[in-house]
Amino acid sequence: MTARRTAASIDALVSAASAARARAHAPYSRYHVGAAVLTESGRIFAGCNVENATYGATVCAERNAIGAMVAAGERAPVACVVVTAGPTPGTPCGICRQVLSEFAADMPITLVAVDAAGRTVARSEERLASLLPKAFRLRKKAKRRRG
Ligand code: THU
Repeated sequence: MTARRTAASIDALVSAASAARARAHAPYSRYHVGAAVLTESGRIFAGCNVENATYGATVCAERNAIGAMVAAGERAPVACVVVTAGPTPGTPCGICRQVLSEFAADMPITLVAVDAAGRTVARSEERLASLLPKAFRLRKKAKRRRG
């Protein structure tokens, strides 16, 4: 089955990302982020940001959602939602753009900003290929010539 990006599936992604966001571990920045990806097979994987006292070991919500997807044996995200606090939606950081692009050359990314009560205050529709043009790719290994 190939999942379709319907309004209903985007709503389900927003719910999953919001639920994950409520569990964010962000005692340093207090900036809570939730992300969710829908895969080709119709499954949803969510993640939240997990901060660390070293700061540098912090992992963003998007990368944790991708990690959950890969650990479950899935490799093909077809849509992504990121939920942050308002007033304007936060955009995925550069590292997360690159990690998302490992599994999808392009896909719609819906950015949602919510207020303290969880109500949507702003929403923007992006594309991964626009957020990260010319993503880094390792060249395929050249075939070894014999002799
Ligand atoms: N953060 C994310 O979770 N995703 C992003 O794409 C940008 C930043 C988190 C990391 C850190 O916990 C907090 O937001 C502030 O940078």
